[in-house]
Amino acid sequence: MTKNTILTFRKKKREGKKLTMLTAYDYTMARIIDAGQVDAILVGDSLGNVMLGYADTVSVTMDDMVHHCAAVSRATSHALVVGDMPFMSFQTSVEEALRNAGRLMKEGRVNAVKLEGGHRVCPQIKAMVQAGIPVMAHLGLTPQSVNAIGGYRVAGRTKGKAELLLEESLAVQDAGAFSLVLECVPVRLASLIARRLDIPVIGIGSGNGCDGQVLVTQDMMGMSTDFTPKFVKVFAPVGDAMRKAVADYVQAVESCEFPEEQHGFAVDDEAIEGLY
Ligand code: KIV
Repeated sequence: MTKNTILTFRKKKREGKKLTMLTAYDYTMARIIDAGQVDAILVGDSLGNVMLGYADTVSVTMDDMVHHCAAVSRATSHALVVGDMPFMSFQTSVEEALRNAGRLMKEGRVNAVKLEGGHRVCPQIKAMVQAGIPVMAHLGLTPQSVNAIGGYRVAGRTKGKAELLLEESLAVQDAGAFSLVLECVPVRLASLIARRLDIPVIGIGSGNGCDGQVLVTQDMMGMSTDFTPKFVKVFAPVGDAMRKAVADYVQAVESCEFPEEQHGFAVDDEAIEGLY
């Protein structure tokens, strides 16, 4: 099985083929997803919500990201692994951004990094690309800015905001990003941006006109017990199957139906003779 690279992204855009990306944060899930032939695995900072139980992604640290990226990278032989740059790991300076992106590559063993923002992060994108670090940009709804935006809202709904979004998309492309995630952007605007850009646009809640799609795996498997966004489709109710498995296990242990004989290990009589 060959490992995807940013060239896979370019080729698929050129050929008009859709790209697929799912999130993973741990080895077991990444193995399942990688075997499913997804093009890329995103170790998103959504791990703050999904894995760590935070209300948002603001508290996620570089150490959190490195830890989870390394687990996912160990599991992955086909998908391109993209590691998210957490809040305040790239905003303070280009040097700080380079150092932290370098950590995700060297310690987390990711193949590319993703960061939220437009014009204001173009110097960081340029420096990373020059240093040999492929960058996926992220515009539209940018969850790390939840406090500045005042909530999670659809982006680009007025003329001014739509124009700015197109400008920023072109700017991150010019800065060297190899692809762009557009989150919660109205369908027609996202399609227009995908057509205008040479790099692939990966949508989440941004409709079918994008060059590819990304979802949080726990959402599309119905495992999230908290809020599920409108744009999520549950492809398999794995969460229900897991809840039933737990209930069945409790029932089987309490009723002494589990473990059965085949789940135990035998011992010769002489080893335990005299112990009774
Ligand atoms: O952190 C994440 O999972 C993301 C996706 C929602 C695009 O950024």
